[in-house]
Amino acid sequence: MGNKKTVGQRALFATKIGVIATTVGSAVGLGNIWRFPYEAGSNGGGAFMACYFMFIFIIGVPVICAEFIMGRGTRSNIFGAYRKLSPKGKWYVAGFMGILASVLILSFYSVVAGWILEYLIQSLTGSIKLADASANHVAFDEFSTSSFRPVIWTLSFLALNFLILINGVAKGIERMSNILMPMLFVLLVIFCINSLTLDKASEGLTFLFHPDFSKISPQVLLSAMGQAFFSLSLGLGCMTTYASYFGEGTKLGRTAMTTAILDTLVAILAGIIIFPAVFSFGFSPQAGPTLVFEVLPAVFNNLPGGVVWSSLFFLLLTLASLTSTISMSEISIAFMVEEWKLSRKVATIVNTLVAMFFGTLCALSFGVLSDVKIFGLTIFNLFDYASSNVLLPIGGMIASIFVGWVVDKRFVKSQMTGNGAYKSVLLPFVVFCLRYTAPAGIALVFLNSIGLI
Ligand code: PHE
Repeated sequence: MGNKKTVGQRALFATKIGVIATTVGSAVGLGNIWRFPYEAGSNGGGAFMACYFMFIFIIGVPVICAEFIMGRGTRSNIFGAYRKLSPKGKWYVAGFMGILASVLILSFYSVVAGWILEYLIQSLTGSIKLADASANHVAFDEFSTSSFRPVIWTLSFLALNFLILINGVAKGIERMSNILMPMLFVLLVIFCINSLTLDKASEGLTFLFHPDFSKISPQVLLSAMGQAFFSLSLGLGCMTTYASYFGEGTKLGRTAMTTAILDTLVAILAGIIIFPAVFSFGFSPQAGPTLVFEVLPAVFNNLPGGVVWSSLFFLLLTLASLTSTISMSEISIAFMVEEWKLSRKVATIVNTLVAMFFGTLCALSFGVLSDVKIFGLTIFNLFDYASSNVLLPIGGMIASIFVGWVVDKRFVKSQMTGNGAYKSVLLPFVVFCLRYTAPAGIALVFLNSIGLI
């Protein structure tokens, strides 16, 4: 990375492709390939999908722009961005919420990434069982409920994340994302084609793309909204922190749109891979968080040279997970470095140790801690639900109200138009959504889900 640019003490992403690759790298991850299929499967398929699309474009895109504007405009972490833009206000409290969400997500996300590592090693050593539905179910259940291996993998994944992080922003992240994302994409397209040849492919596609609107319930709406936020890495200051490393020439509207489109495309591909297989091989779409780990081996089983495909896939998915965990770690690291004046190394150690502690609890909540329930949820499910369905949408609502109503309109305009150098077709739409549709939409979904309206 010879041409590393800096503003003050901060490193900037060196190239335009670096900006897209890293934001998309943050957005694309287990959220698309693990979480999206199981949420869609548990929430009525097509009905969920329709709500999800709507939330991505009328709430997601405007809120990404809001986070970009705050980050690039202040060159700060999420907490610092609120403070700089409103020195007397209490908006920065939302920054703390974002940091909390990032730690919760990093903890449970690393457990799933740990499962991926297990499957990667099993694929590489040839010990993975590529079999039918019930055998896959038993194999995964046995593994995930044990105490030792899931914890070791969670900790190993976090250690890997740590090693990449202490190498700095531009170097570590940019280099990896540039090659990785296109490769993953190609692999997904190949798997899609394979799934489309399965005998009950059309049933799977109908389930996913044919919305039965009578299935839309308050819970489906909340889950679809939570998934939109989670998948876009939105509502916790991740995009703010990344945008603080963007160059002045980066077009925010275009970057937001590209990120949303590519992220959604990857989720759709994952859906096209999973659901035809679910119906053809006799799985239940409602299996929950374990769905993908049961269905994918059956998909690979159907491909000639299955173990080669599964090795390649789990390897790329590990890297895709890393580009996401790097981005969520960056939220609290940037905060600790800039606000607490810790060295980057110490901040990274703190972030990793906290996640290792909570990650271990999450990993054990499928086995020995499965009886520990808070609000009726296991620790893993609580972390997932509290972050995706509560903290992120609230964070997004605050960011949209803040940028829509509180921040100076000229500042918003100048960020979106490169200080007037070019036009932003998205600007009027973004401002309108930030002021009205996003805050009102999020509030309605919340009130609806707790039964107030
Ligand atoms: N968007 C990431 C994914 O889909 C997860 C993520 C959430 C990353 C929040 C950063 C912040 O896998």
